[in-house]
Amino acid sequence: DFIQQWVGFDEMEQQIRLKYGISKVMIVPGESDQDESTKSLLGQRAAKVLGECLTDRSYIAVTGGSTIASIGPHLAAFIDKKQLTFLAARGGMNEKADVQANTIVSNFAERIHAKSKTLYLPEQMSDQAYDMMVKEPIIKEMISHYENADVVLHGIGDALDMANRRQASETEVALLTKNKAVGEAFGYYFNAKGEPVHRIKTVGIQLEQVEQSPIVIAVAGGSSKASAIGAYLNKAPSQTIFITDEGAAKKLVNQL
Ligand code: BG6
Repeated sequence: DFIQQWVGFDEMEQQIRLKYGISKVMIVPGESDQDESTKSLLGQRAAKVLGECLTDRSYIAVTGGSTIASIGPHLAAFIDKKQLTFLAARGGMNEKADVQANTIVSNFAERIHAKSKTLYLPEQMSDQAYDMMVKEPIIKEMISHYENADVVLHGIGDALDMANRRQASETEVALLTKNKAVGEAFGYYFNAKGEPVHRIKTVGIQLEQVEQSPIVIAVAGGSSKASAIGAYLNKAPSQTIFITDEGAAKKLVNQL
């Protein structure tokens, strides 16, 4: 049975990888929509993959979310490099503190005695505030770290779920609906083809910076997220390593 399951996963991993033209797909057993322990397995696999990609002085840009947060408890088992720097890829959002990028990077760094850089700025800013902020030396420094990040580690969410979680305005929700947003990652909303249709104007990491990063690790599971994941992966950078669970993978394969 175990061998069968393993062979089945292997086949699904290849199918998903080829369909989306990404570098690698890994599936863990279970369904994180129903089972918290599956999320922990995602976190464990992501920690292992991350450990294998790092050099002593890597800079790792990290987004928020409960899936990325689930990596924390597993880091010490796979990583022993104190010169690493975890960068918060996003600023402060209208979300619970424990799943915000700033909290996650501090927690990651603490667990393995590495370093972290946070971005304590509101995500939503007026154009004037934004134009002023990007001139601040400390912000310029963060932007240059994003441009040179060795690894980007991010989650993927359902577009409207994320808008709700971020307490988006009615106008913003209407815009997302009008533009048929399906998936969300690092503050960008994507339609079913994977084209960005809306983004939060922020000094956090930009799509071009993610595309430029030599290694991108996307972690997301649960069958309820399958459409969102599929949408995002349609145009995901080819260097993406995608870590998911059986629940999402089965649905993705059926959509092929
Ligand atoms: C958010 C990230 O915090 O978490 C998003 O900024 C991501 O880009 C989302 O889509 C995923 O959240 P979760 O809790 O489903 O892992």
